[in-house]
Amino acid sequence: MKISENISLKTYHTFGTDVKAAYFAEYTNIDELVELLGSDLFQQQPSFHIGSGSNLLFTGDFNGLILHSAIHFIRVVSETDQKIQLEAGSGVNWDDFVEYCVQNNYFGAENLSLIPGEVGASAVQNIGAYGAEVKDIITEVHVIEIESGKPFVFSNQECRYGYRESIFKKEAKGKYIVTSVVVELSKIPVYQLGYQHLEAEVIKNGEISLKNIRETIIAIRTGKLPDPKVIGNAGSFFMNPVIPTTKFRELLATYPGMPHFTISETEEKVPAGWLIEQCGWKGKTVGNAGVHDKQALVLVNKGNATGNEIVQLANEIQKSVQEKFNILLVPEVIYVSSK
Ligand code: EPU
Repeated sequence: MKISENISLKTYHTFGTDVKAAYFAEYTNIDELVELLGSDLFQQQPSFHIGSGSNLLFTGDFNGLILHSAIHFIRVVSETDQKIQLEAGSGVNWDDFVEYCVQNNYFGAENLSLIPGEVGASAVQNIGAYGAEVKDIITEVHVIEIESGKPFVFSNQECRYGYRESIFKKEAKGKYIVTSVVVELSKIPVYQLGYQHLEAEVIKNGEISLKNIRETIIAIRTGKLPDPKVIGNAGSFFMNPVIPTTKFRELLATYPGMPHFTISETEEKVPAGWLIEQCGWKGKTVGNAGVHDKQALVLVNKGNATGNEIVQLANEIQKSVQEKFNILLVPEVIYVSSK
């Protein structure tokens, strides 16, 4: 196993801030991971496990050990005429996995095309886009318990999935490392085209097919979201707030054009991007950090931003949304520090 010392993390996270890690270890299989967890280095240093760093903000140098999975495999677990179960290693690039599913005519992952990140993190974060969430296809999450080094399997139900939420971000936070994920996909066409104008966009590009849905979603995403290889960002910076229907009705009376999505009889989800835009932040630059001009939910590194500059901008945005709408925006991005 390769353990590097004092390395720049600039290329290991999509915000691209120039921070360093004292140690960086990448394991390629479960045995190497278990060996690492038992090592003096792991026992003595603060540690943090990253995927492709597409949902993180390092607030400074990381004076400890960064772990990364290079477990790369995709295998068929079981198959009938109608369904297939696939297991993918935690280090597999998420979009490579979606591409594999689309190329093989397996239905269910296509709406999640081009989401940055890796398979392991997808199951922790419950990634979602265009009316689909990864929890809809996950059947099992395979993990190693950090304390014992023993393997466990979480069923979908045991993962307690919610919007950008799972047991791995709550009760089980810091206790397990995901090593692989099992998903179940359909071999018979099933499409999910109910999100906003998705179906119309797909039809504009041609027939309804897996390939066309993937291509349409890739085109929508690249039109709105900045490419992290060109401009540092971590996608949506905040989660979309879910507010009580009573409060939502009061706001709607003042802002009749407010977009919203009904969660239940008592709750509505409001797009954080819209709230931020209403506060005048869209396209604004503060020092080296900024708010993307095509999607106000995305904060960007304009070049040499530090993590703290981006945190400060996020705090300012949070404050203005709180003042104008009395809604607290909660970051989706995870702040990482070794302190
Ligand atoms: N909107 C604005 N101004 C903006 C941005 C959005 O008014 O600057 C409005 C749009 O007009 C639209 C609504 O907000 O009516 C929703 O916008 P969009 O479809 O772009 O989606 P979102 O709610 O902003 C969520 C996810 C994205 C995902 C898209 C598409 C969260 C936090 N974000 O964004 O996920 O790609 O839906 O499904 O749930 C991510 O998590 O990193 C991410 C990019």
